[in-house]
Amino acid sequence: MKFTVIGGTGLIGSQVVAKLAAAGHEAVAASPSTGVDVITGEGLDKALEGAGVVVNLSNSPTFDDKSLDFFRTSMGNLLAAGERAGVGHQVVLSIVGVDQVPGLDYYRAKVLQEELLRQGPTPYSIVRATQFFEFVDAVLSWTSDERTVRLPATPVQPMAAADVAAAVHEVATGAPLGGIRNVAGPDVFTLDDLGRLTLELKGDGREVVTDGTAGMFAAVDGDVLIGGPDARLSPTHYRDWLQRKL
Ligand SMILES: NC(=O)c1ccc[n+]([C@@H]2O[C@H](COP(=O)([O-])OP(=O)(O)OC[C@H]3O[C@@H](n4cnc5c(N)ncnc54)[C@H](OP(=O)(O)O)[C@@H]3O)[C@@H](O)[C@H]2O)c1
Repeated sequence: MKFTVIGGTGLIGSQVVAKLAAAGHEAVAASPSTGVDVITGEGLDKALEGAGVVVNLSNSPTFDDKSLDFFRTSMGNLLAAGERAGVGHQVVLSIVGVDQVPGLDYYRAKVLQEELLRQGPTPYSIVRATQFFEFVDAVLSWTSDERTVRLPATPVQPMAAADVAAAVHEVATGAPLGGIRNVAGPDVFTLDDLGRLTLELKGDGREVVTDGTAGMFAAVDGDVLIGGPDARLSPTHYRDWLQRKL
């Protein structure tokens, strides 16, 4: 079967394309760098021609309120193009707890993306993943200076991008869920402790200061980013993953 992977050149998309191809499927990586743009519509009809499944792993270039326009326009264009092409399954990658953080523009944008998918004409699946291990360095960099990293004690349950890709691959190759699959990492941390572990393993001498107002995750109340009882837990532990990378 043909799978069109929107954002198929990105962190998750490239791994999903590789997994689909390894399983013997035709997997097309569709993104601006391969001539397909979900905002302008350029190349979209051709990329979806003959596709049974569309896997949407594209991302907004910014996390601010412009991300609402990105996910509104891209989801609208993709649903319309999918209907024209007779696509039977639209899959979107979203975020665990995304509807519980109204203070973040980017999370509101992802909720909008999910809602448009649900209201759309095509059978669908939503995979909600927790924060990727690969995202931790960026989170630390937002609120750091030469000596300290300021982080709130927000509970998180991060997972490896490779495990996210495996979950997306499994859902994309199955029947449409008509709902949400939550996936999460095997361990729960507070974000400040995750920062401390990261700096310790990297031999980085900076100190993590717990600061309930620091960075994007300060907007998160309680443990809404945790997988919850129905989440499928992935196998890779953060400590092992980071040690392998060093
Ligand atoms: N970060 C996290 O912890 C986390 C957690 C849960 C879910 N997610 C979700 O996971 C998804 C994928 O994230 P990622 O980190 O894999 O993204 P990424 O590495 O930033 O890749 C983004 C992809 O989107 C493509 N893209 C950008 N603008 C596009 C456009 N106008 N038309 C078509 N494609 C476009 C890019 O194409 P080019 O390479 O050609 O620019 C690239 O392939 C996102 O939707 C995000 O919300 C993230």
